[in-house]
Amino acid sequence: MDQAAFRAQFPATAQWAWLDTPGSPPGATPVLDALGGTLRSWAAGDFSWRDWDWAAEVGRERFAEYAGVDPGRVSVLGSVAEGAATVAAGLPPGPIVVPDEEFRSNLFPWLALRPDRNPVVRVPFRDGYTHTEDLVAAIRPGTVLCAVSDTLTANGVRPDFAALRAATDEVGARLFVDATQSFGVLRFDFDGIRPDHLAVHGYKWMLSPRGAAWMVTRPDRIAELAPLLPSWKSTAPPFGYFGGELDLPADASRLDTSPAWFSWIGAIAAIELLSQVDKAEAERHVIDLASRWWEGAAELGYRPVTTFQRTHIAVVDIGDRDPELLRQRLDGRHAKVQLAGSRLRIGVHYFNTADDIDLVLEAMRS
Ligand SMILES: Cc1ncc(COP(=O)(O)O)c(C=O)c1O
Repeated sequence: MDQAAFRAQFPATAQWAWLDTPGSPPGATPVLDALGGTLRSWAAGDFSWRDWDWAAEVGRERFAEYAGVDPGRVSVLGSVAEGAATVAAGLPPGPIVVPDEEFRSNLFPWLALRPDRNPVVRVPFRDGYTHTEDLVAAIRPGTVLCAVSDTLTANGVRPDFAALRAATDEVGARLFVDATQSFGVLRFDFDGIRPDHLAVHGYKWMLSPRGAAWMVTRPDRIAELAPLLPSWKSTAPPFGYFGGELDLPADASRLDTSPAWFSWIGAIAAIELLSQVDKAEAERHVIDLASRWWEGAAELGYRPVTTFQRTHIAVVDIGDRDPELLRQRLDGRHAKVQLAGSRLRIGVHYFNTADDIDLVLEAMRS
């Protein structure tokens, strides 16, 4: 599916230059159709809850295929926080290394651990971002885990995973990656990086409803984890309802959460849509457009928050410009971006075009 055909799947793009996928993307037609059909059959009583209940299982398989990993490594969860907290609960004693400004679902689960058992080493920003070499320097013998986002929305920076993998391997520490803000547009090299855990909430770049999340765990780490909320979904299918023993499967399905059916029905349609896109072409497209905006904004006198731009997310500082006036201009042109304090952020999905970027730049011209 080419870019124009992909964009045509998003009705909102006819009205909006939608550059706020880091917040939430607009619904895609196949996802909306799947959800709409489900609501209609719910209303008509024309459904089987057992079919709905199977959606998370299909969502696991489709995600595994999309990611190029074995489905036995994939857990179906409700959020990234759940994935991180599950990993946190299985850690041996020892320090955890995490960027100071991490998204809280990948920070608070570590901070919630007993600090005398698992102290958290928080690595601060320098020049507006977390330097990979600072994380590497903080990973010491005894460190049990380094947790990091694949692309931080505060600045659009993607860490050097090869360096983090080498540093964690050297001391036997785990590498936990939160790929919620990249998976769906940036490729992730599972074979090269071999993350111990990679968690993705599907409602952003994976175009799914909120409530469908995945965690990919390396086979050698699965046995050390147990479900946070053991339930009727914690055994292998067919699922029983009453009595019995808690017999956890050997694969990553042992961590499955009791699923929000409709989220998974939408997620299946979203992955089917994303699977029709050439991943390399989408990645090139989104990075090129983000750079076009970042460079255009700099030409207009906005101050980039980093000295480089390499991902699909770009952020600038508006300086002493009036944020209210800027917001009005952006709204007036139907541009969806994030303006928080003095920070202006865009995030580019494959449905965006150069016209979207230029429309936002036009609104930013004072
Ligand atoms: C990097 C990142 N991770 C995770 C999430 C969502 O967290 P959770 O799945 O715990 O709701 C977000 C939402 O903005 C995010 O930006």
